[in-house]
Amino acid sequence: MKVSKICCIGAGYVGGPTMAVIAQKCPEITVTVVDINQARIDAWNGEDLDKLPVYEPGLDRVVAEARGRNLFFSTDVNKAIKEAEMIFISVNTPTKTYGEGKGMAADLKWVELCARQIAAASEKNKIVVEKSTLPVRTAQAVKDILDNTGNGLKFQILSNPEFLAEGTAVEDLLDPDRVLIGGDDTPEGREAINALVEIYASWVPKDRILTTNVWSSELSKLTANAFLAQRVSSINAISELCEVTEADVSEVARAIGADSRIGSKFLKASVGFGGSCFQKDILNMVYISRSYGLHEVADYWEQVIKMNDHQKARFAKNIIRSLYNTVNGKKITFLGWAFKKDTNDTRESAAIYVADHLLNEQAQICVYDPKVSAEKIYADLDYLNTRSSEDNRKYVTVVNDPYEACLDSHAIALLTEWDEFVSYDWSKIYNAMLQPAQLFDGRNILPHQDLKKIGFRVSAIGKSN
Ligand code: NAD
Ligand code: UGA
Repeated sequence: MKVSKICCIGAGYVGGPTMAVIAQKCPEITVTVVDINQARIDAWNGEDLDKLPVYEPGLDRVVAEARGRNLFFSTDVNKAIKEAEMIFISVNTPTKTYGEGKGMAADLKWVELCARQIAAASEKNKIVVEKSTLPVRTAQAVKDILDNTGNGLKFQILSNPEFLAEGTAVEDLLDPDRVLIGGDDTPEGREAINALVEIYASWVPKDRILTTNVWSSELSKLTANAFLAQRVSSINAISELCEVTEADVSEVARAIGADSRIGSKFLKASVGFGGSCFQKDILNMVYISRSYGLHEVADYWEQVIKMNDHQKARFAKNIIRSLYNTVNGKKITFLGWAFKKDTNDTRESAAIYVADHLLNEQAQICVYDPKVSAEKIYADLDYLNTRSSEDNRKYVTVVNDPYEACLDSHAIALLTEWDEFVSYDWSKIYNAMLQPAQLFDGRNILPHQDLKKIGFRVSAIGKSN
């Protein structure tokens, strides 16, 4: 079977870039990305490619090439469902904030809504692809809904989890380590798998397209994120040990990373991992393990999250301790708010939690991030519900100029590894700060020895001062 029309439900960080690349690489396929969020769709359709709702290096070029040719963004969900032979579900699956499994399980409300809408709007058989990250065995629920509410049509469910990382989404999509497709081992299941394999094979070498059963595919996605996050928590645990033993975490990472069995990637000690997925997916795995009575498995993975929370809190406490145990009324500059460089995404960013900790101590925080708006920063703080939204605006200011951000500041906390931070005129910044000027490098990207020569008191992750 050859697919000529694709619909993707969810025009977010995954749906947008993923479909843009499919459309770019498969000009013969019409790809329509739909969303209930009108503003998001308008932004995807906007003239100004600098204002796409997702900032990703290179994405503007991909969208410019395909949009209007065979890539469309729309809010008419039913029409796109009706026309497509293959439908991707790429909606959000955040941690539940209410009821059973609150704070742990994935909230599948939006996925279920999609399944019901697909069933109601479809007039012919379809392949439904889970692109969202879902708990293992979700496909069963999706299939049950489709089979029982879908006018007797036949639906094949595939799992095709996305492994792109934000900030490198386009690169990851164009040249993925692997593409994973799970489906049923039946003639119809195999036909559906092949249809999706053929789409990816337009640009991905066949030996990198792995096919498997649905449950293994669903669980592989959670496992990949758990392993990646575990590496960060592992090196962060070692960073604390380094700080008390005069070892240097970068040296330790270099030494262990040279072992090909360990590998050198993902060993950067930091203020803690953020992003919309690591924490949510691990919590989800912990929840699933507990629901099967596997408490040791659950405890093991939960520790990755505990270590990450500890790392964020420890960073904030170190700032307070270094500023003579009080930050009340002191200006502390945050360089960076995004959860990593090259993205405007702030979900679960360590900066939010460090700020919250310091705001509890009544610090005055001034934030500069090259891609994150003031509106987003206040929304992140308001979402925590720790204090009133008026207080968040009273204690936090957001500016567009890094030098202005650092003016008259007691301390700088570097929270995101934006490249531009390295090239600043640090002498100029030092001279504009209150003394002693303190700098907390939560990403270990600055030249610490040079900064110390200028006069800064530098505190880095996993290095004794
Ligand atoms: P997102 O919040 O950016 O986008 C989801 C979009 O779905 C939103 O725009 C929302 O309005 C839309 N939506 C929700 N319900 C809808 C409905 N019923 N009909 C139409 N539109 C609907 O989320 P995201 O970051 O793109 O993540 C989507 C999924 O992909 C999640 O399961 C996530 O775990 C997974 N994932 C994310 C990343 C990442 O880097 N962000 C990477 C891999 C996998
Ligand atoms: C991660 C995975 O890398 C993707 O494969 C996956 O598809 C995605 O989650 C997802 O499911 O959402 P992402 O969260 O976008 O991607 O970004 P990462 O590069 O993994 O970084 C996650 C966090 O870990 C960031 O805050 C980053 O700064 C931090 N990190 C990463 C470190 O602190 N040290 C490292 O060595 C690596």
